[in-house]
Amino acid sequence: MRDLTIRPARPDDLTSLIQRLGQDRFFADRLDRQTDQRGVLLTAWRAGLVIGDVYLWLEPAEEPEIREHLPGTPLVTHLEIHPEHRRQGVGTSLIGAAEQLLTVAGHDQVALAVEVTNRAAAKLYTRLGYQEWPHPPVKCYSPGDDNGHRRVEICNVMVKPLAG
Ligand SMILES: CC(C)(COP(=O)(O)OP(=O)(O)OC[C@H]1O[C@@H](n2cnc3c(N)ncnc32)[C@H](O)[C@@H]1OP(=O)(O)O)[C@@H](O)C(=O)NCCC(=O)NCCS
Repeated sequence: MRDLTIRPARPDDLTSLIQRLGQDRFFADRLDRQTDQRGVLLTAWRAGLVIGDVYLWLEPAEEPEIREHLPGTPLVTHLEIHPEHRRQGVGTSLIGAAEQLLTVAGHDQVALAVEVTNRAAAKLYTRLGYQEWPHPPVKCYSPGDDNGHRRVEICNVMVKPLAG
């Protein structure tokens, strides 16, 4: 897509991320995890501004059901596009970049958890080839607000095989 750059975040992106997308604690935490090679924070940029992100969770999942049924499967988490840049293919491009990175790293599938009420996101994931797993929805947790409070959500888990 024209004018779109997707790359892993760098520690010095933290101020831009927070100014544009908020969520101080979340981005600081994910950058720390990335430094420790526990995940990858992919960011999308246009005209020098960050317009979206997705975090690849490479650690064992927080949700026990996902750990049980999908051991070792990386998770696409926290896909978020700035409201002014939605419905222009940026989310699709970020997911594509995430999947390519995981394929190169040797993963044969990827999963995600989407809140059962988030129809728009589920529709996008379905179009991109994700399918609901054959198990019930799971309790998952929002990333946490600036006070560190996390909301419990009910999420469908969706899985996609990656072409080797
Ligand atoms: C869900 C979300 C990440 C999607 O990001 P996005 O950049 O709008 O996604 P895309 O533009 O790639 O695709 C969205 C839709 O726009 C359509 N689209 C893509 N390019 C388009 C264009 N140029 N013109 C019009 N529509 C377009 C896509 O076909 C897609 O339609 P579909 O849902 O019917 O498949 C975004 O809406 C968002 O940040 N939501 C809030 C956070 C959230 O819910 N995240 C998901 C957590 S699981």
